[in-house]
Amino acid sequence: MEVEPTVYQVFTPATPANLTFIERDEINNNLVNALRTPGKQIVIYGHSGSGKSTLINKKLERLYESHVISRCMQGMSFDQLVLDAFDQLSPFFTTEKTARNSDSVGVQLNATYLGIKNQISGLGLRERSDKSIRLLPPQLTLQNLARFMGQAKSCWILEDFHKINEGDRALLSQAMKVFVDMAGEYNTLKIIAIGAVDSARQVVKYDNEMRTRVAEIHVPLMNVHELQDIIIKGAELMNLRFDSSLSSTISHYAAGLPSICHTLCLNICVHLDFNTPRKELVVIKKESLQPALKMYLDEASDTLKMAFENNLKQSKVKKYNNAELIVKALSELPQEGGTRADIFKRIAKYESDYPQGNLTKYLKQMCETETTPLIRSSENSGKYAFIDPLYRAFAMVLVSSSDSQDPHELIDWNDVIANFIKNFSTEELTKSIHTHKINYMHKN
Ligand SMILES: Nc1ncnc2c1ncn2[C@@H]1O[C@H](COP(=O)(O)OP(=O)(O)OP(=O)(O)O)[C@@H](O)[C@H]1O
Ligand SMILES: [Mg+2]
Repeated sequence: MEVEPTVYQVFTPATPANLTFIERDEINNNLVNALRTPGKQIVIYGHSGSGKSTLINKKLERLYESHVISRCMQGMSFDQLVLDAFDQLSPFFTTEKTARNSDSVGVQLNATYLGIKNQISGLGLRERSDKSIRLLPPQLTLQNLARFMGQAKSCWILEDFHKINEGDRALLSQAMKVFVDMAGEYNTLKIIAIGAVDSARQVVKYDNEMRTRVAEIHVPLMNVHELQDIIIKGAELMNLRFDSSLSSTISHYAAGLPSICHTLCLNICVHLDFNTPRKELVVIKKESLQPALKMYLDEASDTLKMAFENNLKQSKVKKYNNAELIVKALSELPQEGGTRADIFKRIAKYESDYPQGNLTKYLKQMCETETTPLIRSSENSGKYAFIDPLYRAFAMVLVSSSDSQDPHELIDWNDVIANFIKNFSTEELTKSIHTHKINYMHKN
């Protein structure tokens, strides 16, 4: 008998999708071709939450015997990534010799691997003020790493590569070159760098000779149909049917982000106490969305608070409260946002002398707040928007309530958020989503 999934296996807001996985035809061919072409290096890029990790996971599952995933973190150096990959290959070289390792090349590589492993433990740690860092032994060259990886019939995935220090990012281009050169010998060998950024070049800056050897794969935000497919697929697995107005509201609310879609569907089920598939088909109506959104809001309230607090605080009193003006302008624009010029026009309504330079500077700054981003920019459409429709809804309330306040008075965020949650209405949100629905559909 088939084992029934739980709701947490069906709707996966925080992990790569599996049961509800939907194919994305426009990206599929390019990705599969690149994966199958020996020596082709891959850069996958696109907005955070657009589905990069899910996609590569699914494809590797089908096309690759094994892979090594290194997760990049802020401040990591390239050396640390090389060490991380080396460590992960350990089971392949230190357990019982597999058939592949018993030919003469294999035996030699095994010995080299173990030699380097010993060197690493001998080198110990280098203490830095904040953390200790393992040293890279001279023998652990990129060529050697490539050999080990190639022998293990593996490829190397670098998740969130945009987090690596700018200076160290250049080293990836060199590593890709080495992997290209050695792909003749080991045909599965490749590097797949993934970054939550707007262009491949923000992930790796490689030179022209590499141009034809790197596949740049953009994973766009999902369109409403793709989002609805997730809802339908997940609901079916739970033996539910979301009525059409509910599923269309969820898919519009998600504004291209499958993670929001999963979150809301999960919350709906959790709120109804549906942990496993129903015995008989149950139809879910639009009324179920309100509590699900409230749960989402409760969970997000800390992040919400931080994002607004960090972006709106201004250490020195300046002529303009730049971030506030931008937030206000964006709250008046549709969820899909507006171009720099659209935003400027809005601000100029309130501050006729507002300098263009300020807008450029602060927009850039607000998009780059790594830890608590509030707005995002899209290179493709040239628009700036709140990263989540929820943020826009919150900004609307904030703007309307701050109009009456003394601007120098400190905001009590806990109060504002508590009020927001209490008075939060899906009606208003739905209305604002639907007003701009045509625009949004057109874009996709
Ligand atoms: N093809 C898909 N089908 C169904 N759900 C998906 C699909 N792609 C992504 N998701 C869901 O969307 C969410 C985000 O996906 P994922 O983690 O793959 O995005 P990402 O681009 O890697 O994000 P980040 O840049 O933040 O790492 C997850 O909840 C995942 O379950
Ligand atoms: Mg990811």
